[in-house]
Amino acid sequence: MPAPRAAYLHIPFCHRRCFYCDFAVVPLGDRADGAGGSGAASIAAYLELLHAEIAVSPPGPPLSTVYLGGGTPSMLTPAQVAALLASLRRRYGLAPGAEIGLEMDPASFDEARLAGYLAAGINRVSLGGQSFDDAVLASLGRRHRGADLLQACHWLRRARRDGGLRSWSLDLIQALPAQTLDHWGEQLRGAIAEGPPHLSIYDLIVEPGTVFARRQASGRLDLPDDDLAADLMELTQRLLSRAGYGHYEISNYALPGHASRHNRVYWSGAGWWGFGMGATAAPWGHRQARPRTREAYAAWLASPPPSPPRPSPLATGTGALLPSDELWLVGLRRREGVDAMALAAAAGLGPADLAELRTHLAGFEAAGLLLVEGRRWRLCDPCGLALSNAVLRELLTWWEERLDAGP
Ligand SMILES: C[S@@+](CC[C@H](N)C(=O)[O-])C[C@H]1O[C@@H](n2cnc3c(N)ncnc32)[C@H](O)[C@@H]1O
Ligand code: SF4
Repeated sequence: MPAPRAAYLHIPFCHRRCFYCDFAVVPLGDRADGAGGSGAASIAAYLELLHAEIAVSPPGPPLSTVYLGGGTPSMLTPAQVAALLASLRRRYGLAPGAEIGLEMDPASFDEARLAGYLAAGINRVSLGGQSFDDAVLASLGRRHRGADLLQACHWLRRARRDGGLRSWSLDLIQALPAQTLDHWGEQLRGAIAEGPPHLSIYDLIVEPGTVFARRQASGRLDLPDDDLAADLMELTQRLLSRAGYGHYEISNYALPGHASRHNRVYWSGAGWWGFGMGATAAPWGHRQARPRTREAYAAWLASPPPSPPRPSPLATGTGALLPSDELWLVGLRRREGVDAMALAAAAGLGPADLAELRTHLAGFEAAGLLLVEGRRWRLCDPCGLALSNAVLRELLTWWEERLDAGP
């Protein structure tokens, strides 16, 4: 079984915690930055741990994709980013043409810092825009405003035009409180006008423990109902496809040649290395989540659990490394869907089981949400993708019960 060729590095620092976010992050204040001032010592101490984890990780072939996510990795200086890439180069090497991505928040960098990242080897940027509307940004607890986002898009466009940046992506959140179709249409048109080669459009998830969850509990979160949420997604699909973007995964749209190679690794079920507090790694198909606080991560690093055993190729007939229920989950999020026959065979099930599952899901097929084309099962675009949770819930409940029942 080949070792992973993808690595995720988690940079947990943010200026503030946004009202909807439950990622493993450490808010350091509005003025914090790796270059000095408040928070710089915390950042430097964490980076030492990250370098140590990379240095002791199992060996493997050169990496084809690297992703520095967060948190707000653009709080690191270009020199700190270059040092992390140097650590990966020492441990694994970087394959020629590797995709090396960095998550950046508007208002956390300027054009000189962007140039520094590119010189360090970053060739793809993911920009956390969320919205162009100042009132919406304030209601999300974001530090940046619409003008910062427009400025950041301008710099990224210029970096791409000048050849330093291969591609970039803009994140927006849809189905926000009080969102209307008209307002969302304006946001999308604004995004298209900025010319990002890739867009990630996430449906708001109200995560437990967040400010949004508390507002919801006290009846102060006016979320779109299911019909409006489906209409919003349909509008997204229509406007973006008219602008030339392909909908290649539930939340992701790209101009030709700009799909994220790193994300494809997750969705294809292949394994990846993961480093840092709160990061999940799955090098041999066994997910291993690191602790979500700095103290617990440091203690874990001092005595990490043994690496999970490498599975034999016989254990996974699909050539992918994740368990079959996760393969359904990630596979059906992609436009091309999954090879259901291979997936069933890898899980020890046969064509008769698959036929039974298809009967169980006949309502979704009749409604045009689920498409079965020979061995390949996929969700129709946009309605199946918009209602994917309902289909996946039914499918995975049946699947897990069947696997639990044994042969
Ligand atoms: C890992 S986050 C970090 C990116 C960056 N720090 C930022 O927020 O600008 C990546 C993206 O996830 C999305 N996201 C985070 N929490 C979310 C939630 N609860 N619901 C929907 N989208 C969310 C946001 O669009 C965000 O840009
Ligand atoms: S900046 Fe990004 S990672 Fe940080 S709290 Fe906000 S959404 Fe979460």
